[in-house]
Amino acid sequence: MTFLRALSVMILLFTASAIHAIDQDADSKTIHDGVYTEAQAARGARLWENICSECHVDDEFVGEAYMGSWTNVPISELFDLITVTMPEDNPGSLLDEEYAAVIAYVLSLNELPAGEEELPAVYEALQQIVIQGPYSQ
Ligand code: HEC
Repeated sequence: MTFLRALSVMILLFTASAIHAIDQDADSKTIHDGVYTEAQAARGARLWENICSECHVDDEFVGEAYMGSWTNVPISELFDLITVTMPEDNPGSLLDEEYAAVIAYVLSLNELPAGEEELPAVYEALQQIVIQGPYSQ
């Protein structure tokens, strides 16, 4: 391979990865981008009080201590974990929309901004939303 040819291959690869990075940016958001609504978080708060608070306290999932362990992980993984394992005494007993509302409530406890659109209750859509700091506290 001549030097010039090697160079042009490198430039091609670099351009392709740059385009890929821009693509990802266009689709993906972080939890700071207003990814749930206030009404949804309020619904989640009621579910939390009725179900989750039996075993959990409010600030258990707030701040760097908990959220930090999820840094750079899509929120779909948190959704997956909660839908499969919680409530511990009756896993999977809530509707997907209810799990999404509970996660919206957790985001509101973390003082993340609400927005115009609800947090989706669909795994694939949640893969586009990444958990990132800064976290409250
Ligand atoms: C009957 C008790 C009980 C109820 C009700 C319950 N949980 Fe849990 N939850 C637990 C226990 C115990 C753990 C710790 C399990 C572990 O991670 O070892 C846990 C862990 C968690 C975790 C941390 C998982 C991790 O590894 O990061 C989350 C998030 C969570 N629960 C959310 C919820 C939500 C949301 C609800 C309400 C829909 C709920 N839980 C209801 C007992 C409960």
